[in-house]
Amino acid sequence: MQFRELRQEDLSTSEWMRQVELRPDRWRDDHTRSAVAVEGLEVVAAGMIWTSRVHGDRYWIDLVVDPSRRREGIGTALFAHLSGLRKDDLAFMTRGYVDEERLAFADALGATTVQVVPPALIDVVGRFALRPYDAVVPGREVPWSRLLEANAATYEWIHASWSPVAEGFAEALNEGLEDDLDLDATSVAVDASGRIRAVAMAYNDVEPPVITAETVVRDEPEGRGWSRHVSGGPSMCSPVGASPRSNSTATSAIRISCRSGPGSIPAAAGSGSSRYLRTSSRTGASRPE
Ligand SMILES: CC(C)(COP(=O)(O)OP(=O)(O)OC[C@H]1O[C@@H](n2cnc3c(N)ncnc32)[C@H](O)[C@@H]1OP(=O)(O)O)[C@@H](O)C(=O)NCCC(=O)NCCS
Repeated sequence: MQFRELRQEDLSTSEWMRQVELRPDRWRDDHTRSAVAVEGLEVVAAGMIWTSRVHGDRYWIDLVVDPSRRREGIGTALFAHLSGLRKDDLAFMTRGYVDEERLAFADALGATTVQVVPPALIDVVGRFALRPYDAVVPGREVPWSRLLEANAATYEWIHASWSPVAEGFAEALNEGLEDDLDLDATSVAVDASGRIRAVAMAYNDVEPPVITAETVVRDEPEGRGWSRHVSGGPSMCSPVGASPRSNSTATSAIRISCRSGPGSIPAAAGSGSSRYLRTSSRTGASRPE
């Protein structure tokens, strides 16, 4: 089997490649690499690695193998090739629901689970019942710039102990947020002085939609109460300041990456689904056995 860079024209040759989002080699910079595996004249797999602009300390990876050629070791071989294309020696990261083949594949490559977010179902009609307190208003009712600041501040503190953000992360974090957020379903707790104390962001960019709820600062007095206010009740919230699983393993092999923080819950509005979100990591330094 041979490997070469992924070109724009490769993307329109096979329907199966659309199973994951791919871009041509070096689509952003030397940290964004893409490759295909070729047998004879046939492309049999394609994959991409890229760094996160929010953290900058890991490579995300996605790859896809021709469905008629799976379980032959091609995915593993392409992973090893992509591993060798990394500009920096950073760990890999992937994320998915626990029953997905991508995580079985990651496990087989030696990945370690760094966070599991339990499911909680929230009926969309409950969005109005989420605000029984005067201090809690829809996201649409607070200035957009303050919502962005609150989002960045929340994200920064919940990741500080286990996956610190990169300098200038806020711009990358908030990029495209206006398209992803449901501002009517998003709830914001505002105190008497107008300060945002807690947020429950409702994201529409994934199916099922996801809600993340947390206080804006770590040491928020009565933080648990504020989080409850925005998210509708204790059943939906982890304790404020709760640590993610395995946060003590701060080695290069273990990184947690999840837009959701420790208090975040994927919400499957009315879908009946109850799937756990799992994040896995693997060092890329050595080839898989
Ligand atoms: C996930 C995927 C890339 C795996 O490619 P592949 O070439 O079949 O992977 P390999 O043959 O190298 O498999 C290596 C090991 O991963 C595990 N694995 C791979 N696919 C699996 C599946 N569907 N179910 C359970 N385990 C699986 C197995 O342990 C396997 O070893 P084995 O075949 O000796 O049991 C492929 O199924 C695919 O393209 N899926 C759709 C896209 C996708 O989910 N991509 C995410 C990749 S991060």
